[in-house]
Amino acid sequence: MQLSNLISRVFIFIGSASVTAGIAFGAVLAQQSGEVEMSEISGDQGAPRRHFRLREPADLAPGEAQQIYEIALKALAVGYARSQDPSAGSYTEWQRYNSMPYLSATHGNHFINNYANETARAYGSGKRLPVGSVIAKDSFSVTETGGILLGPLFLMEKMPKGFSYVSGDWKYSLIQPDGTIFGETNGIDSERVQYCISCHLAVEAQDHLYFVPPNFRTKTTN
Ligand code: HEC
Repeated sequence: MQLSNLISRVFIFIGSASVTAGIAFGAVLAQQSGEVEMSEISGDQGAPRRHFRLREPADLAPGEAQQIYEIALKALAVGYARSQDPSAGSYTEWQRYNSMPYLSATHGNHFINNYANETARAYGSGKRLPVGSVIAKDSFSVTETGGILLGPLFLMEKMPKGFSYVSGDWKYSLIQPDGTIFGETNGIDSERVQYCISCHLAVEAQDHLYFVPPNFRTKTTN
């Protein structure tokens, strides 16, 4: 598929009620086409059991996914930063641990990228990460008809001991592309991100971290 076709139509990921701001920066991308469309999202967005799922995730060559990411990154970063979350405003300056965007079935079938801050530099070693470590996963999707959807930012932040036994003291947050905080452990709408904890518990032995799939790693350990 030609890249020009891929970006010829722009879709915007919409979650909960915060539609207006989403359209505002979707419009940045939409200038190329003058067209903005809404995506269809399956599942109950008020009480998700997993991430919002696209009905038709596009099958892109890895190189194409990277090119699209370069186009979408600015809009993603600006949108997430509106949340005022310090990590959401700075993660693009951190080390990126994946070589190119990859499809994550466990994160709503979005193309995702993994970044970790300086404190989390042992990310991928299997060791327990220190307080202040943050892992950020931004996301986007492309539909079969070539629409780009801005996806949410998934964050894990290591909090001081005692924050949450069951999460291994990780705070999970999901920030929408318009900056709305959808949920955060022990904070805004905490119950909405409860399901993050249970799935990541499966890798409790490596500090609840899965790490990047082998084919997409930029490095294996520290
Ligand atoms: C069904 C299982 C599942 C659920 C639910 C889930 N994750 Fe993940 N998560 C994974 C897997 C598998 C990986 C590693 C592969 C990948 O990147 O997709 C991962 C990776 C991550 C990472 C990178 C750190 C790491 O583990 O390597 C972050 C950050 C993250 N998830 C945040 C979240 C947040 C926030 C939620 C809830 C909003 C969530 N996840 C829900 C399975 C899950």
